[in-house]
Amino acid sequence: MTTPFADDDATPASPPPGCPAHGLDTTGLDTAGPGTAGPHPAGSGLDAPGLRRIYGPEAEADPAGLYEKLRAEHGEVAPVLLHGDLPAWLVLGHSANLTALRTPSRFSRDSRRWTAFQEGRVTPDSPLMPVIAWQPLCVFADGEEHRRLRGAVTESLNRFDRRGIRRYVTRFTDQLVRDFRPSGRADLVSQFAEHLPMLVMTQLVGMPEEYGPKLVDAARDLMKGTETAIASNDYVVASLRRMMERKRASPGTDLVSWLMEHQAGLTDDEVLEHLRVVLLAANETTVNLIADTLKMILTDERFRAHLSGGHMTVPDALDQVLWDSAPMSLVAGRWATGDTELGGQQIRAGDMLLIGIAAGNVDPVVRPDLSKPLYGNRSHLAFGSGPHECPGQDIGRAIAEAGIDILLTRLPDLQLAVPESELTWTSAWISKHLVELPVSFSPRFPGEEDDTLPQQVAAAAPGGAAGPAAGAPSAAPASASAASAPEPAGRVTLPRQRRSWWSRLTAPFRR
Ligand code: HEM
Repeated sequence: MTTPFADDDATPASPPPGCPAHGLDTTGLDTAGPGTAGPHPAGSGLDAPGLRRIYGPEAEADPAGLYEKLRAEHGEVAPVLLHGDLPAWLVLGHSANLTALRTPSRFSRDSRRWTAFQEGRVTPDSPLMPVIAWQPLCVFADGEEHRRLRGAVTESLNRFDRRGIRRYVTRFTDQLVRDFRPSGRADLVSQFAEHLPMLVMTQLVGMPEEYGPKLVDAARDLMKGTETAIASNDYVVASLRRMMERKRASPGTDLVSWLMEHQAGLTDDEVLEHLRVVLLAANETTVNLIADTLKMILTDERFRAHLSGGHMTVPDALDQVLWDSAPMSLVAGRWATGDTELGGQQIRAGDMLLIGIAAGNVDPVVRPDLSKPLYGNRSHLAFGSGPHECPGQDIGRAIAEAGIDILLTRLPDLQLAVPESELTWTSAWISKHLVELPVSFSPRFPGEEDDTLPQQVAAAAPGGAAGPAAGAPSAAPASASAASAPEPAGRVTLPRQRRSWWSRLTAPFRR
């Protein structure tokens, strides 16, 4: 990630930590905990009384509101309570987050350093365990070991070209649209966003197509931590193991083969675990990115106004969502390698830090006016920064961008089918998910040809020069062509909705 902001421990712009003169209220405070509620004493650390919980129904009902309370009370870095009332530092400032992400010598990724682990205060059934239990993965490694493992992942991921990814996205988007199109209604979360990333990822990994739908279910189940999560995990692992055996006998142009043959010399277990991490890291985040961007496209006045004027692009919408509704709200975490200072707080060796992506993205120091659009500005924290910065961000963006673009081309009169106020999110401490995105559009039945051509493609074809689709501005696509377009996606153009000789000719190729 590039950023125009300084990488240093800036002095908090907010009042001094715990300043009682700045409107501290007691909502959400751990009043049952030791010392009960009360203003947080200036300069106090993680063992201070009255820390706010960042888990549980109250915190999850309004995480953004909670972050602002914490910012007002503590500045850039706030002491909070995690599940089991284990204390940690939540980093709220944009600059402080960058410092924590970019200074691995002070803030390690190795969770075994956590004092709470060493003192046996994290129970094996803690809901934190799936996220922070140390494993021999690039995610938990520092230094040379991190470079070895991550090098294999990054170099393998970089071998995919965008055009190939777009071909998969086109195929699966068409498949998903075909399933719900006859009804004229759909829920774009459960019928589109939750399927597309995993379907594409299975292709990149090198799995036969029939694995896709089952892996989608297994991955969702795993992340939800339901009773069947262990069985779902077993299914994912067994599928990957089978795939590795096949690719060893007959390598292909896919992630499994490239990881196995990489010069870093990963063991079979390392290959398997990194494949699993890639699948899970890619799925949940890209699902959220697609769902929230579609929601924005369908509801945001700024977007719709720009769209009908022909200046707004899907990439612009993605940038705005990566700032305002980052697919991961926070990353857990980093662990202090020694006593240090961050954002005016005294951090002790072994303390845990939570990277506050959502909070850092709305830090008033970098965004004094939240209504100001940030199209094209990629200095958000959504993909992290420093040595662990997301190595799959181009793939995630490419899936979201192409998928949305193609969907909007196929369903040019797409509209929200419920009032915006009825949309709801479920929040967990590390992310929030749009529950449903009900939409309506003109139904079309199997056998009826798919002839929604982007305007400039149609206009370029002989006889194809009609105007935009009839009716009010709809959630129209923002790129040149849905099926075989050269990327990147271009400026918004409204699609045509008429059956042309061109569409008949190209229909067999547009799958
Ligand atoms: C588009 C949505 C995505 C978002 C918002 C996202 C976000 C992130 C963030 C914030 C991190 C950094 C965690 C840290 O600093 O500790 C990360 C790491 C990672 N991401 Fe992504 N990610 C996305 C998509 C993907 C995709 C599509 C892939 C794979 C194809 C992927 C693979 C990974 C891996 C392997 C890591 C661990 C890297 C390391 O620890 O060195 N992500 N992601």
